[in-house]
Amino acid sequence: MTWYLAATKNEFKTDHFKTVFIDDIKILIIHLNGRFYAIQDLCTHDGGDLAGGEIEDDEIICPRHGARFCIMTGEVRTPPAYEDIETFPVKLDGDDIWLDV
Ligand code: FES
Repeated sequence: MTWYLAATKNEFKTDHFKTVFIDDIKILIIHLNGRFYAIQDLCTHDGGDLAGGEIEDDEIICPRHGARFCIMTGEVRTPPAYEDIETFPVKLDGDDIWLDV
């Protein structure tokens, strides 16, 4: 695992999502309740993007068929997905957002 500078806090002033590619992995950074989380932007049901999915409490809802995943742990919460998604540690340094990938 290696730390990568992935984004800055300023990029989240108007949006809660940002998608980045690190080592060919598509990662979704989410700003939620003042904290930042990073999850793999790939639904384990049928490979859809999770970016743009609704957020309810600590869950993101896949925009394609409605599977729900915990943003903090990646745990799958409802079908039609049955496998967890990957999450990545986030570290803040001033305005910079770093991901351990
Ligand atoms: S691709 Fe996400 S629920 Fe089907």
